[in-house]
Amino acid sequence: MKPENINDIVGSDRNHLWHHLVQHKPWQSTDPMVIVEGKGMRVKDHNGREYLDAVSGGVWTVNVGYGRESIANAVRDQILKMCYFANSAGNIPSAQFAEKLIDKMPGLSRVYYANSGSEANEKGFKLVRQLAAMKNDGKKHKILYRDRDYHGTTITALSAGGQVQRKDQYGPFTPGFVEVPHCLAYRDPRGGDPDYGVQAARDIEKVILAEDPDTVGSICLEPITAGGGVIVPPEGYWETVQEICSKYGVLIHMDEVVCGMGRTGKWFGYQHYGIRPDMVTMAKGVASGYAAIACLVTNEGMFDKFKDNAEDPLNYFRDISTFGGCTAGPAAALENLRIIEDENLLANTTAMGDYMLDQLGGLMDKHSVIGQVRGKGLFLGAELVEDRDSRVPVPEKRAQAVVADCMAQGVIIGVTNRSIPGYNNTLCFSPALIARKDDIDHILDAVDGALGRVFG
Ligand SMILES: Cc1ncc(COP(=O)(O)O)c(C=O)c1O
Repeated sequence: MKPENINDIVGSDRNHLWHHLVQHKPWQSTDPMVIVEGKGMRVKDHNGREYLDAVSGGVWTVNVGYGRESIANAVRDQILKMCYFANSAGNIPSAQFAEKLIDKMPGLSRVYYANSGSEANEKGFKLVRQLAAMKNDGKKHKILYRDRDYHGTTITALSAGGQVQRKDQYGPFTPGFVEVPHCLAYRDPRGGDPDYGVQAARDIEKVILAEDPDTVGSICLEPITAGGGVIVPPEGYWETVQEICSKYGVLIHMDEVVCGMGRTGKWFGYQHYGIRPDMVTMAKGVASGYAAIACLVTNEGMFDKFKDNAEDPLNYFRDISTFGGCTAGPAAALENLRIIEDENLLANTTAMGDYMLDQLGGLMDKHSVIGQVRGKGLFLGAELVEDRDSRVPVPEKRAQAVVADCMAQGVIIGVTNRSIPGYNNTLCFSPALIARKDDIDHILDAVDGALGRVFG
């Protein structure tokens, strides 16, 4: 594009776009960044400057990397043939993708299409509410969520959100959502309990008992918390959560919006822990951002409960997502899945994730500001602290200065932001699943330099 045209674009952006999750005031004096093209793990901005993207499109999304011609062709061919029909009818890619997906999710059997992670999660909440009404005399309607987890942006998804700053000023919220404590051992209020994983799960049980198990329908959890600080659950946690949920008849709703489709080195995050979820939601990596698609996946038992009385006009899931009928999503998702399989990207994610975690650990020797590194696969975080003994978090602005320094070096990394007051101090890394050693080294060189400059 000619320079004069790109200047027009920047002007149109500045004058008319309301960007997501950004404070616009600073843009009165600087240009917004317009991303113009991408290939592999690299993107170019409107000035032609190239960046190595260590966060897969900013928010853990472009798992197979940019510029995949085969996905573009699959979408093009599909939408020319048949672009849309409401999902009350079927279409070819949605049936084909459902079959492939279910093949990766033993124990589950039904796929419900939607178009965002928030929306898929809301479907899960609606199933619980309707089940309570249809089968439990209105009981078992409450939904538990965890401190630091995030499940989406709508008012009800925020009602299930454990990130105080994301919720601030958006209440009142939907009733019937109850918080349980987080499971971040590094911030264990009991201080280094070796049995912390089991105890953190027992904290959930205490909430169930306090609320009355007869009123609790489900618990919605991220397998590994993303924006709340990249929290890998401690040993013993998931086994105990499963045991507690089985004991009190609480459905397990796994929010795989970030972890799903390979991000952690398995198809789904929960598969590291032997959990048997009743519902799984996914979005970002399902089609790597080439088309909007989200899915809610359930087991057959759940599906059956919504079809056991044909005489009752209300005995079915009375829900629709208009764009859940777009064929571009499943067409892109099918090709995305093929790429992950054919290019062996799960194995690459595990190998490169282990390497990156190890190298990040190595940076701790040099930079005492890194309090802890954690993660699984290519989904990693480094928590920054003033001092390793006190674990006092660095101020958000200083963590953001590290991100800005990396950006100035041409490397895009992330940081938890405006989520948990006082604890927006974890650097986030989620390179595409195609990352190679030299990409990881390049990212970590930038981080090394930035930490040195920001913290001295
Ligand atoms: C764990 C998790 N769940 C749900 C969502 C919401 O997804 P969406 O932005 O597609 O609505 C997000 C978004 O970041 C997320 O991180």
